[in-house]
Amino acid sequence: MAFVLAVSGSAVGLGNIWKFPYIAGQNGGGAFVLVYLLCVFAVGLPVMMSEILIGRRGRRNPVATMQLLGEEEAGQSGWKLAGVAGVVAGIIILSFYSVFAGWSLSYIVSSLTGEFVGGDPVRVTNVFDRLSGSWGYSAFWHSAFMVMTIAVVARGVERGLERCVRILMPALVILLLILLGYSVSEGDFARGITFLFQPDFDKLTPTGVLVALGHAFFTLSVGMGAVMAYGAYLPEGMSIPYTSVAVVVADTLIALLAAMVIFPIVFANGLDPASGPGLIFQTLPVAFGQMTAGSFFGALFFVLLTFAAWTSSIGLIEPAVAWLVETKGFRRGIAAALIGGVVWAIGFGTVLSFNLASGFTFWRGTIYTNIDHLASYIMLPIIGFLITVFAGWVMCRNSSADELGVGVGVTYKVWRFLARFVAPVAVLFIFFHAAGIMDWLREMIA
Ligand code: TRP
Repeated sequence: MAFVLAVSGSAVGLGNIWKFPYIAGQNGGGAFVLVYLLCVFAVGLPVMMSEILIGRRGRRNPVATMQLLGEEEAGQSGWKLAGVAGVVAGIIILSFYSVFAGWSLSYIVSSLTGEFVGGDPVRVTNVFDRLSGSWGYSAFWHSAFMVMTIAVVARGVERGLERCVRILMPALVILLLILLGYSVSEGDFARGITFLFQPDFDKLTPTGVLVALGHAFFTLSVGMGAVMAYGAYLPEGMSIPYTSVAVVVADTLIALLAAMVIFPIVFANGLDPASGPGLIFQTLPVAFGQMTAGSFFGALFFVLLTFAAWTSSIGLIEPAVAWLVETKGFRRGIAAALIGGVVWAIGFGTVLSFNLASGFTFWRGTIYTNIDHLASYIMLPIIGFLITVFAGWVMCRNSSADELGVGVGVTYKVWRFLARFVAPVAVLFIFFHAAGIMDWLREMIA
């Protein structure tokens, strides 16, 4: 139970409530959601099982585990580079994660001071523009969130926070259900649901397919070695398939729930579904502003969202800190401050993407879009690919069967098939043939 809580605490975060709705909106809804679900279950799930399995076998930090098992199973220490890449991905992801968690933090205050009362969409958007459009405000809240993260990691009190997850996560789900009630009665629910669940492949782009794949990794916290680190603490007798499925299903349901809340509000208020990272910050306050006791519910919601982001941010920074402490002999507090400082500084790339540097675009868009694209949609899938190749092809059958703990029955065969063939091939295919995949899906549906 503690393990499931720890992994779900890291998996459920801004990825589910902030990111999934906004990328679903940007990529045209239905078809994207379908590809995303396929990626979660056919790729993300086997990667998660592989990470836990490797972690439990190595029982060390991800870098040391990959090095040890690489030597043990293949006589090569080069596999540790996959671990190092994961550590770097965590640092890059946290740099923008913290900026949006900071926005959530500031929305607690805005809710409490009644800035959303009435729920007028224009007024809500003004509040949002004032925050995102000012690099000073955004930097302030980003800094505050980084201080919160560093404080916890420096003291190594993750356990305490995990205990909170037990209460806060159900509370977050209950609040989402209350909001769903609002969306059903006040929003354009039919249009929201059609948008989300009726695939229209003309709206999907090859980049959208890649984003769906990358987000499957992002939302499950896999492809970074973070879950490997938790796997090191999973007791011998626990079933890896069972716990992984539980986490993946819960994570997916929360993301879909959030999207089902948001899009009816978007359509009922004439907002733009493709407005990007600000989407939840421009829609949810509309609902809170119109609800009875909305200031209270709104503040509570952003408190819970901030908590969910906090537990995830610790999982993002911990691999780097653990690595400095365990292999370089740093004191924990120093390591946390050092890595935290680097993350904080990189975060300015994202802060400025919404104000001073919003016009500075290249490749995928703003500085933020590029950082996100590189880490979430390129690094995570490549590392995830290496992890499944390692677990499926490099590790000998005996080791993986032994560690998965389900004998060599059907579950083992299904996992091994997914880890050897489906997950790595899907990653390669999507990387090189995203457009082809789209056409194939379109024909399958038609
Ligand atoms: N899964 C987290 C979310 O959805 C974000 C995340 C990605 C993460 N990789 C991680 C969290 C690794 C902890 C560890 O918000």
